[in-house]
Parts: sequence; C-alpha cells; structure tokens
Amino acid sequence: MRVLLRRLMGVAVGGALAGCAGQHHPMNTLVTKSNLASWIYSLFVQVTFWDLLVLAIVVAALALAIFWFSTRVGDPTEPAAFQSDTRLELAWIIGPALILLAITVPTVRTIIRTQPNRWPKNALTVKVIAHRWWWEFSYPQYHIQTADELHLPVNREIHFELTSADIIHSFWVPALGGKRDVIPGQVNQITLIANTPGEYYGQCAEFCGLSHANMRFRVFVQTQDGFKKWMDHQLKPPVNPGSGPAAAGAAIYKNAPCAICHQIRGVSGFSKQYTYGFRGPDLTHFGSRTTIAAGILDNNPKNLARWIANPPEVKPGARMPALGVRGKELDELVAYLESLK
Ligand code: CUA
Repeated sequence: MRVLLRRLMGVAVGGALAGCAGQHHPMNTLVTKSNLASWIYSLFVQVTFWDLLVLAIVVAALALAIFWFSTRVGDPTEPAAFQSDTRLELAWIIGPALILLAITVPTVRTIIRTQPNRWPKNALTVKVIAHRWWWEFSYPQYHIQTADELHLPVNREIHFELTSADIIHSFWVPALGGKRDVIPGQVNQITLIANTPGEYYGQCAEFCGLSHANMRFRVFVQTQDGFKKWMDHQLKPPVNPGSGPAAAGAAIYKNAPCAICHQIRGVSGFSKQYTYGFRGPDLTHFGSRTTIAAGILDNNPKNLARWIANPPEVKPGARMPALGVRGKELDELVAYLESLK
C-alpha cells in the first residue's frame, strides 16, 4: 500500500513539474506579453501574497492551539475561562478589514484600468467573429479578412470587437490576457497593447460543442514593419495560377461547392443566400497561413488533402462536409489552395 501511494505521489509530482518546466507551455498565463496581461498578473501576485499571509496566520494559530495551549493528559488545572478580550476582538476586526482593503484597492484599480477604451481613435480595430469551430478576424480600417491566424503590430493599441455567429464562445490568448466571452447579438470589447513580438496561442475557453477543444488560433505579434508588410501582402489580390496542377485546381474550385461558403477575393464571394453562421474562412491568402482547421494542423499539402477529403474526420462536428473530391482532382485542388500565398 505504501509503495503504491509513493508511486502515485511520484506520478502526480512528476507530472506537475513536467507541466511547469516543459519547454513548450503555450497556455501559461504567468508569462505576460501585453499591458493587460501584466496588470492582471500583478493583481494575481498581490492577492496571492495576502492569501498566503492569511494562510500562515491561520495555520500558526491552529498549530499553537493544538501543540502549545492544549491540556495534557493528567493535567490537574482547569483551563482558564474568558468572557471577552477587547484587544483580541479589535485585532480580529481591524486585521481582516485592513487585509480586505489591501486587496480591494488594487482590485478596483485593475478593474478600471482593464476596461476597454470606449473611444479607440488611434487604435487598430480587429473584429473577431467566432464560429463553430473557427475564428474569423477582420481589420475594418484596412478591409482585410483572415481566419484562425491573427496578426498584430507590437506597441500599438489594439481594440477587439468580439461577437459570435452562432453560440457563446470565449476568446482567450493567455499571453495577452483578458479572456472574454463572445456572445451572439452582442459586441464585447478588449483593448490591449502587445509588447513583445512572437507567436502566441489562443483557444476558445467556453464549451461550445463537439470541437470546442479544436477551436484554436494563433496570434503573431509583429514589429510595426513586419505587420505593415503582412498587411500590404494581404491587400494584394490572390495569385492567379497560369498553368499546371494549380490552374487545374482553380477550375475545380470554381465548379465544386467550395465557393458557396468560402471567399477568395476576385474569384468567389460569400454567397448571400447562406446565412452568416454558415460561412467558412476567407481563403484569399490561404497559402500564407501556417496552420489549417483552426490551428489544429500545420498547413502543408498532406494535411490539407486529409482535411478536404473528410473534414469531420479531422475535426468532429465540422460544418464542412466531405465533398467527394479525390485522387488527382484532390491533389490539384490542394495545389491551387496552397498557391494562394
Ligand atoms: Cu468555441 Cu468553445
């Protein structure tokens, strides 16, 4: 029994340490990369300090009561009886009140500080529309639309406007802070300034059905120059493949039902007859994305072929059905989509 317990402890502690010390821990909220995340982290540290202080006092009082002031077996004296003790009563009223005050002040300050900027004149606005199970990102000031990969400039105020096309989701990028519910028929907001270029992970944080766990995304925080380059590239029309498999794939794309749900600027638009909730990702610069299927697979021809052949097999519940494109046609369609750099 003792050996079993020791083994179980070993597994638990080992697992916890591996989780903390692992090379790759993308959902860590303790490494902050934005002003918003830093404010929340700082509040967390302050509150934890007071929590630990209270814990230490309570444990110390308990230990004193158990080991110091308890009556020993055979102890002849009766324990002392008290009706009241003014100093003690004042101490346990004033002490907790001061601790609560010490927690309330930074909490209220953080609540006020983290409110979205209601007049974000100079901010970059990013519209986020959550869909089952992917993310639509658009930049209304620049008329750019993309999916599942969000590019942001470093050190510039970003104003997110979040809404959902179907049910409640939650937008969460641990490194940038500020998990927020994404609700149909309502626009929620977050304002933040990302302060370190890098690639960060995002994840839907509200259970939204079969592929909730597969509703991921990537955030690329770029230097101002890098972001401008990305934006200029996104503004360009898609490449029109002249010949070869990609050209054959373009013809297949136009004739297959792909264009009903997907947009490629200048090639196919979103069909008006289908409701907003049924639209699929904009594919204008699909080939320039690093992942597909809401961040669950790397973007390469093999994965793309697997996805197109049978989306619900890759992502359970996916709205995109298997369209029966196979063999050479599938390869050509993949070649076309990957050519949309
Ligand atoms: Cu969307 Cu969970």
